[in-house]
Amino acid sequence: MAWYKEWFGAEYLELYAHRNRGEAETHVDFVERVMGADRVGAVLDLACGAGRHTEVLRRRGFRALGFDLSLTLLTEAPHLPRVAGDMCCLPFSDSIFSRVLNFFTSFGYFESEEENFRVLEEIARILEPGGGFLVDLFNREQVVANLVEREHRRLEGYSAEIQRWFDASTQRVNKRIRVHSPNRPVQTFVESVRAYEKEEVLQGLERAGLQVTALYGGFQGEEFNSDSERLILVGAKSG
Ligand SMILES: C[S@@+](CC[C@H](N)C(=O)[O-])C[C@H]1O[C@@H](n2cnc3c(N)ncnc32)[C@H](O)[C@@H]1O
Repeated sequence: MAWYKEWFGAEYLELYAHRNRGEAETHVDFVERVMGADRVGAVLDLACGAGRHTEVLRRRGFRALGFDLSLTLLTEAPHLPRVAGDMCCLPFSDSIFSRVLNFFTSFGYFESEEENFRVLEEIARILEPGGGFLVDLFNREQVVANLVEREHRRLEGYSAEIQRWFDASTQRVNKRIRVHSPNRPVQTFVESVRAYEKEEVLQGLERAGLQVTALYGGFQGEEFNSDSERLILVGAKSG
């Protein structure tokens, strides 16, 4: 089974518990600053996970809808409007969203380039002309240069051993997570994300009909450079 169908469950949530609502507030502050505070159209939180951004957006009056593949994560927030599905073929009509937001490295999961870039075409298809998008990725250069090869994390009720490596033949950053819980066999999960160069993503977006208007290296609006933690691409569907 594809790694992304197995990993985004209870263990993911616990391991990434620091990626919380507080961080989502900062991200949405950024959205309001750089994309504007217009609350008229519908906003898609693409690959919303447990819905931390959907929740903040809705509390601030945005008409936000979450979309994700993981039923475990979607059911974490049953009070939020959300749809289950695969981002390679979004179950929405053309041109119905005024914004599509894709936070926290939720791109580059598929094995083939074609499938990954189809996601950008899908974003373009469901956006209205002039509609805004945000894609938030890790900065390949910074991540590959600073990979922590082995880490041990103690979490509530279990511990996790994490191994990370960059595979130059596939251009992917991989993570193996071995979860040790009392009275259970060790569980092994994998995370494997295609580490795209900035230019590759720019080209993919352009080919899809999505025009990048600004690049940032972080959610405080930092300029993007080789040391940036994030590669945040903001723009609009060509009119
Ligand atoms: C790193 S998490 C980010 C979640 C959320 N955006 C956040 O910031 O908390 C990636 C998310 O992508 C979802 N995902 C993975 N593959 C997917 C697919 N093919 N279609 C839709 N969602 C997918 C996972 O279930 C997970 O919730």
